Amino acid sequence: FFTQVPRIPPDAIFDLTKKFLGDPDPRKVNLGQGTYKDENGAPWILPVVKAAKDKTQDANHEYLPILGLATFRKLATELVLGKDASAIALQRVASSQALSGTGALHLAGEMLFRALGGEAPVYITKPTWSNHRQVFATIGFEVHDFKWYDDNTGQIDFESITNTLRNAPPRSIFVFHASAHNPSGCDPSEEQWRSIARIVQERGLFPLFDAAYLGITSGDYDRDAFAIRHFINECGLQAAVCSSFAKNMGLYGERIGLVTFVTQSSDEAMAVESTLEQITRGEISNPPAFGARIVSAVLEDESLRAEWARNLSTMSTRIADMRKDLFNALIKLHAPGDWRRVVEQRGMFCILGLSLEQVLHLREKYHIYMADTSRISIAGLNPSNVWYTAEAITKTVQD
Ligand code: LMR
Repeated sequence: FFTQVPRIPPDAIFDLTKKFLGDPDPRKVNLGQGTYKDENGAPWILPVVKAAKDKTQDANHEYLPILGLATFRKLATELVLGKDASAIALQRVASSQALSGTGALHLAGEMLFRALGGEAPVYITKPTWSNHRQVFATIGFEVHDFKWYDDNTGQIDFESITNTLRNAPPRSIFVFHASAHNPSGCDPSEEQWRSIARIVQERGLFPLFDAAYLGITSGDYDRDAFAIRHFINECGLQAAVCSSFAKNMGLYGERIGLVTFVTQSSDEAMAVESTLEQITRGEISNPPAFGARIVSAVLEDESLRAEWARNLSTMSTRIADMRKDLFNALIKLHAPGDWRRVVEQRGMFCILGLSLEQVLHLREKYHIYMADTSRISIAGLNPSNVWYTAEAITKTVQD
């Protein structure tokens, strides 16, 4: 039966985590998978999540509706688009709970494949999150990539972006990272987002936002949602938004996310929602309840919302501080190279610009784990390991 099944290599990021966990060396540093860690390198259960969990203790274990917990969908949609979004008032929004960001991308992709008959290509950035291509190619889309970031300058390649948008066939789907581009940490400025939205509108393209880092990028959720709200609320564009509460509430394992479609009319929104419902019923029947209850408990309570804002600020400030500490240490150690990108890029990740050989040397000799592309998760740095890391990078670059 299985003679034709190929053996597929393990996922690079999860394999890196496995290698890190299996390394007995006490000096080891995990800069691989993007999960927030506190100043001691431990997973952080957000205080707001602890409080919300207390409030959901008595919840029963019945099935949720197929589209997910109604309060979660309502409050999370308002959170992402802004409470006053006219698309919400005009009932032009379809939403469904999803299995975190990846599940939301998958649902969005399945929906768009049905809507566009699979004729529209999907454009993803180069580089991008290692799972994007797989999510859309598996559905059957033709997937193209376009240069987002210039490795030499460590900055966004705006000309490449606008050229690609101008030359893509109408109805093409563009996957944008709403904030904190993964892996480059390079986001367009607000002015650049406005230009991108204009071209998307002129060319009749479909924007799909992967919104995994809202709130944790700058510490201010509304600020991080700028691009989404500009496209949808100010330009009146149709769009999909795939949001997740993994990074910004630390709910990684709970797989809690939301897919939101903004359509042209309430009739279209109802049709899209009914399709999302059918897809989910056929795949997982109905989504898990625990994470949705926690997020709802936070969003429906003003004081918990305020606590969440403080927790977001704690995480984003610690990440920004670690960027500065790493940069200062590299400068102090006279590490050869231009390290400005460490402080200029945003969010959890930064590409150091090291060769694969250097990355492997850091892993083998110093037990410092980062992706093969030399992307580091800044959240894995802390006051106890940042100097060690900077020294190891310096020695590796000098060799
Ligand atoms: C990452 O990019 O490291 C995270 O988003 C985790 C993952 O699933 O790849």
